[in-house]
Amino acid sequence: MRSDIDSVLKTFDQDFLSGHMENLRRLVRIPSVSFPGFDPAEVTRSAEEVAKILTEAGLENVQLLKTANAPPYVYGDWLHAPGKPTLLLYAHHDVQPPGREELWKSPPFEPTELEGPGGSRLFGRGSADDKAGVIVHSSAIASYLKTHGELPVNVKVLIEGEEEVGSGHLEQFLKDNLERVQADILVLTDTLNYDIGTPGLTTALRGLVALEVEVRGLTKAVHSGMWGGPIPDPVLALSKTLAALVDENGKIAIPGFWDLIPPIDPIAKEALKLLPPVDESTFREQSGLIEKADLLHKDQHLMGQIWWTPALSVNAIQASSRKQAGNIINDVAWAKVGIRIPPGTDARKVMACFRAAIENNVPWNLEVKITEEVAAGGWSTQTEHPVFELARAAMREGYGKDPVLMGCGGSIPFVQPFAEALGGAPALLVGVEDPYTNAHGENESLLIEDFRKACISQIHLFDKIGRS
Ligand code: BES
Ligand code: MN
Ligand code: MN
Repeated sequence: MRSDIDSVLKTFDQDFLSGHMENLRRLVRIPSVSFPGFDPAEVTRSAEEVAKILTEAGLENVQLLKTANAPPYVYGDWLHAPGKPTLLLYAHHDVQPPGREELWKSPPFEPTELEGPGGSRLFGRGSADDKAGVIVHSSAIASYLKTHGELPVNVKVLIEGEEEVGSGHLEQFLKDNLERVQADILVLTDTLNYDIGTPGLTTALRGLVALEVEVRGLTKAVHSGMWGGPIPDPVLALSKTLAALVDENGKIAIPGFWDLIPPIDPIAKEALKLLPPVDESTFREQSGLIEKADLLHKDQHLMGQIWWTPALSVNAIQASSRKQAGNIINDVAWAKVGIRIPPGTDARKVMACFRAAIENNVPWNLEVKITEEVAAGGWSTQTEHPVFELARAAMREGYGKDPVLMGCGGSIPFVQPFAEALGGAPALLVGVEDPYTNAHGENESLLIEDFRKACISQIHLFDKIGRS
């Protein structure tokens, strides 16, 4: 048995640079931004490229699964290990918009290797979030099939194309494909390692409630000198409304909001004390917080805040533009605002009070239009299922270190509904991001060495589950 996996690992090593890294570059070159206003044909092209990579890895039944108008999911399977568990392997191939192109050190869709924290890193939008996640699955599968012509477990691979916009067609997708995606264990490669070289096994995700708000006062922009005074300013109205969503300490102050937030689980709170320490200066450096700026809520644990507490951010705000900043009263002001909610919070109820706090608060009877964007719940899991111990052992093999059991400030809408649809199947959330990855920001990058370790851990995971 042992020699079995040794030859698989050898194949993996031989193919890592010329095969798996190159496959990752193939994906990063495609600007598969799933956001409105970006070319959806690129997301389809990326799905087709993923399908090619899965086929080359040796998977069968590779196809694009289409649900309504959703960007295609890519599916492929290998189901020839009778009596062994079936793993559903998830990642997503869509990405966030690149942001400000001029701030990228290398073009966002040209994968570029540069030195950075921890060693050599691959820069490019999606290099870590989550195209590397796709390759973790494909490389492990390819290494087995190429070496032995078989896998120690059954696998179904599912690569989503609308994760970054909140997985709006998930419910319909599940209805259409419930039979096809049945599995015993979910493995997702879309989360964060605790630190460089220190793997993370994620056991909770925050949810996200996001909306767009548009405040209008005029049918056209007008001269601010000629009309200023009697005419209410919609940008000020929006600013006042947004500012009232938090108190002077930055704590959310939406009426009724805190009644919807479950108290932090005392066990999770205790567990924070056992985490490898994150000191304030490292945290500032990793986040890029400027030196003189305050850290908020300093009475609370840093990771505790990110994993178990709500947070509100204004993702974008617009009225006129820097370039067109004439002496005007704007006709309209717009913002996109999101609230991260801890696991166990009802996303729909949060949306209702979030919405109301904006609608009822815009001054001067201006017109307010709200578009609900995302209402995705969080997720959390217990870890007593034996597969968690196997995952821990597999990561120890790959990284030479035990994983840190961690929460996650981000969201993956797929997890909760899928785990539920699979009858409460255990979900293993692992990943390739690290605190320097800068996912969603400019200069996103993947630490190549940790990516390699993640792939090796995945090979061990198949082996351990196959033998359990
Ligand atoms: N990979 C992230 C989730 C994540 C974030 C994992 C931070 C680990 C650390 C995922 O691609 C993501 O960004 N999800 C969106 C979901 C949203 C649109 C509902 C997010 O969190 O903004
Ligand atoms: Mn992701
Ligand atoms: Mn993301």
